[in-house]
Amino acid sequence: MDPAELKAIVRTIPDFPKPGILFRDITTLIAHGRGFAATIDRLVDRALMADASAVAGIEARGFIFGAAVAARLGIGFIPLRKPGKLPMPTIGVDYQLEYGEARLELDPGAVEDGEKVLLMDDLLATGGTALAAVDLLRQAGARVHHALFVIDLHELKGGHLLREEGLDVQAIMQ
Ligand code: PRP
Ligand code: ADE
Repeated sequence: MDPAELKAIVRTIPDFPKPGILFRDITTLIAHGRGFAATIDRLVDRALMADASAVAGIEARGFIFGAAVAARLGIGFIPLRKPGKLPMPTIGVDYQLEYGEARLELDPGAVEDGEKVLLMDDLLATGGTALAAVDLLRQAGARVHHALFVIDLHELKGGHLLREEGLDVQAIMQ
């Protein structure tokens, strides 16, 4: 399936979770067997270029795609979690979303010092979440040069923010 066909499977819901937000809902994409498999194939092609030894995924939707890609590459998966979920001492970063505020936490022991980590999420909007994730991974000693998304909401300019941090930013649909 080509990117245009995959894009057509993503459902758009206006005014969720707040008025004015055009919500790009990936549940229809992951429910579509061939569409989900083709999405992972395309992500794996891009992920290979990062030459990373682990994929870090952002809870919750980033887990779905990040874990599938890590398993296909035969490398580890590092969960970046919402607050209060990890049982060990964590490091954390607060950030702004397109529609609110949030926090990510990480077990610093999950990252080897100097390890090359590929950051993955389902969607890039303002870039606040991804930037917080990069900050957190770098605090834990990771080298993060590549960020990979299913969807880039180009007009919200998250890609600019990440490129300013020296990242290569890839997405399979705009
Ligand atoms: C969504 C999405 C990204 C983030 C992108 O997550 O999965 O992580 O927003 O927005 P940004 O680029 O403006 O930061 P959300 O916090 O809604 O959580 P979820 O994955 O648990 O649904
Ligand atoms: N996360 C941030 N903005 C979003 C949007 N417009 N659709 C889906 N997820 C999002």
